[in-house]
Amino acid sequence: MIDIHSHLLYGLDDGAETIEETLAMLRVASQSGTKELLFTPHIAEEFIYDIDTAVFRFKEVRKRAAEEKIEIKLHLGFEVRLDKELFSKHEFDMNRLTVNNQGKYLLLEFPFLDIPSYYKEIIKYLTSADITPIIVHPLRNSRILQNPSILKELYSTGCLMQFNADDTRDGRLSSILLRLLRQNLVHFIASDAHSIDLRPPVLANAYRFIEKKADRRDAERIFCENPARVVSGEIIDEEDLQRNGFFDRIKDIFNR
Ligand SMILES: [Fe+2]
Repeated sequence: MIDIHSHLLYGLDDGAETIEETLAMLRVASQSGTKELLFTPHIAEEFIYDIDTAVFRFKEVRKRAAEEKIEIKLHLGFEVRLDKELFSKHEFDMNRLTVNNQGKYLLLEFPFLDIPSYYKEIIKYLTSADITPIIVHPLRNSRILQNPSILKELYSTGCLMQFNADDTRDGRLSSILLRLLRQNLVHFIASDAHSIDLRPPVLANAYRFIEKKADRRDAERIFCENPARVVSGEIIDEEDLQRNGFFDRIKDIFNR
């Protein structure tokens, strides 16, 4: 499994505070079956740090993890809040905020309470630069939660959707998630880990949930294949998302 959303890189946001905590969390991730992990510190007005600091700490952690024989491949990206001022501030270094600095994928976080009126402008700004926005944990936005069909529109504008592993543990959220999965709107599930106790970097339970409630091919696509394309900067096209037999299985579900 590849975890594409985590706050394990220490001392930048509300995630890990020390390098020891980062390493402890990486051990937990590795022991629970995560083979690769993307650090995605917040880019939001309440967290102030240089991108250079994040890059420096990323290299430092990668070296320490190798020395301590923690078997996990590490990547660097950022979780960028959808905020006009932040985007204009980073206009000239937008590529550095994309996954592995490849200019292909950017994790985009909607505010929790509302959808800003200018969201389409920002999505257009990214997609016209060939950057695919990945909307993170959409069900934490109260307007999307009230009306999840908004995600269909976001998908049609070129966005992909990442849900949190935690969503599979909540009765209401997990049934919405499964409904969206049948509509082909669940492209990734990641941990969004912040600490070992509160939200650990573990995907194994969520994988088993999808395997049981949908099937193994869906789990492989959501936890392994789509994330592998994100970290390597490969394009995920329509065909990858709508694999052979997928619509047949949707029909089966509706016919049950
Ligand atoms: Fe996050």
